[in-house]
Amino acid sequence: MRAADIQSEITNVLVTEEQIHDKLREIAAQVADDYEGKDLLLVGILKGAVMVMADFSRALRYVVPMDWMAVSSYGTGTKSSGVVQIRKDLDSDLTGRHVLIVEDIIDSGLTLSWLLENFESRGAASVEVFALLRKPEAAKVDVYCKYLGFEIPNEFVIGYGLDYAERYRNLRDIAVLAPHMYS
Ligand code: XMP
Ligand code: MG
Repeated sequence: MRAADIQSEITNVLVTEEQIHDKLREIAAQVADDYEGKDLLLVGILKGAVMVMADFSRALRYVVPMDWMAVSSYGTGTKSSGVVQIRKDLDSDLTGRHVLIVEDIIDSGLTLSWLLENFESRGAASVEVFALLRKPEAAKVDVYCKYLGFEIPNEFVIGYGLDYAERYRNLRDIAVLAPHMYS
């Protein structure tokens, strides 16, 4: 699905498929250098990070294990609730491992700051964050994000894993959802 197919449902395309892939290659090269020879574990946060994880992990130049965690801080609406709930926990033991959290987007930052604390308490050797997108104007807590794709305006976005009520995840670009779609 491409943005052209849903033009009446979006305001504009923010990041194209090509821009995403260029950025992922750049960050993957940096991450591969930084973690060379270390016990790196990628942890994707379901469901939004599925596309980022798929493309980012394949852009890395060596084999790396991955695990997944599902948390929810959102209902089907567009605002963060601030309440984080584990829906699916990790299968891996984090003791002594270098964890890189792979996230689709940092909005208020509440989800990630909770996850960072949670992972550190499990004895990881290090925990860093790679987020494809961040909305600086929406920040409620400060989260250190070592690897960042794009800063975007404080608008609700969809595509490339991001959904509105489970729709649009398979859109190839990242676009702003038209307000008439949810108001
Ligand atoms: P917080 O506010 O805790 O939110 O940083 C992080 C999670 O909320 C979801 N999120 C969005 N999902 N479009 C979406 O489809 C958005 O614009 C958006 N903003 C936040 C997302 O799951 C993220 O992991
Ligand atoms: Mg998410």
